[in-house]
Amino acid sequence: MTKDTWYVTTPIYYVNDVPHLGHAYTTVACDFLARWHRLHGRRVHFLTGTDEHGAKNAKAAEERGLTPREWVDQVVVHWKQLWERLEISHDDYIRTTEPRHIGPVGRFMTALHETGDVYLGSYEGLYCVRCEEFKTDTEAEGGVCPIHKTPVETLAEDNYFFRLSAYTDRLLDHYESNPGFAQPERTRNEVLGRIRQGLRDIPISRPTLKWGIPVPWDDKHVIYVWIEALQNYITAIGYGTDDERFKRIWPADVHMMGKEIIWHHAIVWPAMLMSVGLPLPKTVFAHGWLLAGGEKIAKSGRSIAQISPLELIDQFGVDAYRYHFLRATSFGDDSNFSIEDMGARYTADLANDLGNLASRTVAMVDRYFGGVVPEPGEVQPPEQDLLDRAGAAGPSADALVGQYRINEAIGSVWEVIRHANRYLVEREPWKLARDESSLPLVGSVLNTAAESLKTVAALLCPAMPGAMSELWSRLGLEGPPRLDAPPLAGARVRPGDPLFPRLEG
Ligand code: MSP
Repeated sequence: MTKDTWYVTTPIYYVNDVPHLGHAYTTVACDFLARWHRLHGRRVHFLTGTDEHGAKNAKAAEERGLTPREWVDQVVVHWKQLWERLEISHDDYIRTTEPRHIGPVGRFMTALHETGDVYLGSYEGLYCVRCEEFKTDTEAEGGVCPIHKTPVETLAEDNYFFRLSAYTDRLLDHYESNPGFAQPERTRNEVLGRIRQGLRDIPISRPTLKWGIPVPWDDKHVIYVWIEALQNYITAIGYGTDDERFKRIWPADVHMMGKEIIWHHAIVWPAMLMSVGLPLPKTVFAHGWLLAGGEKIAKSGRSIAQISPLELIDQFGVDAYRYHFLRATSFGDDSNFSIEDMGARYTADLANDLGNLASRTVAMVDRYFGGVVPEPGEVQPPEQDLLDRAGAAGPSADALVGQYRINEAIGSVWEVIRHANRYLVEREPWKLARDESSLPLVGSVLNTAAESLKTVAALLCPAMPGAMSELWSRLGLEGPPRLDAPPLAGARVRPGDPLFPRLEG
């Protein structure tokens, strides 16, 4: 059995956080990728889920007088609801408290133990519960977490360690022979720098904690939450339970994440996989952060209290929401979010560019041709030019998506939309239509506009599934948008309200 599935993952989010714009950013991007590959006829597996063990959840549950299990069951609902509102098309949702995760984690840990890469040692140092991370003295200067600005705990405990130090050279070799392994380039360089400094062995268990998965050979310990969480990427697809399925899906084509968790994905996880002899993911991609007022959008920041994904969806609609975050940011870089920018982009791109092209094309077919898309007739150079541009947009966007340049891929489709609008302004079919003898040319113009709109609807469907399905059916086509739809001539269009109504006020 060989791999036949394109496999994309989001990080599994800490279940006790309130899902915010930052989390939705990663998930929407992965959803776009999954839908894009499905559109191109590829078999896809898209995994997301929640990270539910660890000190952070244990503490949150205790504060509320609940068991950790009751607590995580309560809060997981917020995540599932948001993904539903955002029309996320994940194929699976893994919770690390599920037996299908817990069992295989035990097997993976046993395998890791058996390689001789695990030993009992003692750790004395600092820990930030909110990060669920061990911190060095320099990182947590003054006893404060550099990220959360809250006090770190001082730990002195016996832990099992993973011999990460033994993987320095193998990791460097892997990076050397796989230039696309950690992306973008900035991330690759940063990770390489850290490996070259030399790697230290890392704790992989916690002796004092109860809320976690027991270490299989020593149940006085639970597995450190990060070490266990990373394994979701394989437990969810049949590692240790369904070998055939596992081999069809693994290795992941891309683990997508924010740049703050690259250490775990680009160094720790690959070394663990090397230790047990499993293939490595093809790419780990660290995108930039969404900022609000220059600050990382986070649960504890001021920003998050002000802007919730659900409110934005109510205000702009789910398609415009998805479009904004895919289009307005260069995926590898940090980018600032503001509602004013979102409104301006909505008006310019959706209400004006795309909305106008769609409504006037459909309206003119309705008015001049009784609602039936006319035959192409004689294709003159301006028509050919637009059709060529529409035809080239797909392959060029596909190449950009392959490099995770999502905003540029969508931008290349927008070139077609803008050109089509210019084309209509130059051809002026509304004027030509006054003269009966020009009707064949009007037909040709509207056929061309409708055909390019058809391509646009299919290519934008991964970004705006609802609105583009609606456009598809207004163009007289059936089923979900696809790249190999038949010619439109003869299809019956369906005029309707604006796809993207103007914002009020
Ligand atoms: N549970 C770990 C991940 C384990 S994966 C094996 C975790 N969870 S988290 O809830 O903190 O989610 C972090 C992820 O949320 C980031 O890596 C990123 O994908 C997303 N983001 C959170 N805030 C973000 C921004 N402000 N901007 C962009 N993405 C952000 O870490």
